[in-house]
Amino acid sequence: MDSLSYALLLVSLLCSATGQSPVVSVEPQTTTVREGESVSLRCQVGSGAHATQLQWRRANNQALADNVKIGPNGVVLTIANARPNNQGEYQCVASGSAGSTVASAQINIKYPPKVRLSPTGPLRVKIGDRVSVQCRATGRPRPKMSWRRQGSPLQLLSEEIDGVNTIQWLIVRPEDAGVYICQAENIVGVTEVKVEVIFGGVPGAPMAAVSHKEMTVVEGHTVTMRCQATGSPPPVITWSKLRAPLPWKHTVAGGALTLTSVGRQDSGQYICNATNIHGFSEAYTQMEVESPPYATSLPEQVKLQHGDALTLRCLAHGSHPIQFHWSRVGRGNLPAGSHSTNDGQLVIPHVKSSDSGIYKCVATNHIGSSEALAKVNVRA
Ligand SMILES: *[C@@H]1O[C@H](CO)[C@@H](O)[C@H](O)[C@H]1NC(C)=O
Repeated sequence: MDSLSYALLLVSLLCSATGQSPVVSVEPQTTTVREGESVSLRCQVGSGAHATQLQWRRANNQALADNVKIGPNGVVLTIANARPNNQGEYQCVASGSAGSTVASAQINIKYPPKVRLSPTGPLRVKIGDRVSVQCRATGRPRPKMSWRRQGSPLQLLSEEIDGVNTIQWLIVRPEDAGVYICQAENIVGVTEVKVEVIFGGVPGAPMAAVSHKEMTVVEGHTVTMRCQATGSPPPVITWSKLRAPLPWKHTVAGGALTLTSVGRQDSGQYICNATNIHGFSEAYTQMEVESPPYATSLPEQVKLQHGDALTLRCLAHGSHPIQFHWSRVGRGNLPAGSHSTNDGQLVIPHVKSSDSGIYKCVATNHIGSSEALAKVNVRA
């Protein structure tokens, strides 16, 4: 117990023995003023009591702010040039010969919205980035918030949670570049804060661009992927392959990646990375390697009895789609009763000895074709 409380306790113990506590009230009970205005409270002590001392304090036990002044005799409390944090309950403590009594009053401070953006901008973005800006507003009464684009009265779609109103682009596009305004409004005032969305990095930051976002190359050929980068100092360009090492037959020169004699396993995404002291920028080329079909027959040789069923399958690797065509070497026409399917099967339900011979499958795609032979021998 500090000495003041001890003294007050002592006083009230003495007073309760000798008489009645003072009757106290504070006027006005509730006051609402705007920020910057002044407000006064008066502590009134009922007649008849011998009040010896009046004291003011805040109900939350915080010290009185430096713009709060107490008049002579402690009767009047005045707040000059009110601030938001002056809001609260104020208590007048009257200590008399017969004890002490507390009365309180509430002061409310209205103030116009104060708005803060996060990030503050300007926002430097790339096409396709996910971008969001939070607008946080305080004010009394609690302000209403909205977002709009400079030069347009239309309110933009945004989400508000606990005084934070967020505008968001899941995939930002060049036409989204511009100035956006968060507005917060209450009965005291309107506050607006702007943020600019700019495409492009910080000055000098690298910006990489590939000559082709997609490439299709035929197996065995040589391909060159070009990447150009702007930035200052001039960025260093490196190439890598997504989730795989670069093919071993590669060279990099002047920002271009060359792959010689590509195979199907070289298909994938290649990343150009331009780096300088300001950061890095990535650009992607998706490359597909296409190959002509390579056909085989299963089986390649077959011996059958008269009346047996013949099934030949033509298998082919290569880029899809692949078409199959069966024929008979030296004869042209397939035997009557035979049929072939789209996936490369040839079926003769009942073979005759005259069906013996060499059968040919030609597999064709848009790159080229390949043939496979099957030797069929039917014994009489
Ligand atoms: C690009 O370079 C930067 C900086 O050197 C690095 O952090 C980043 O991971 C690189 N990206 C790829 C895909 O290699």
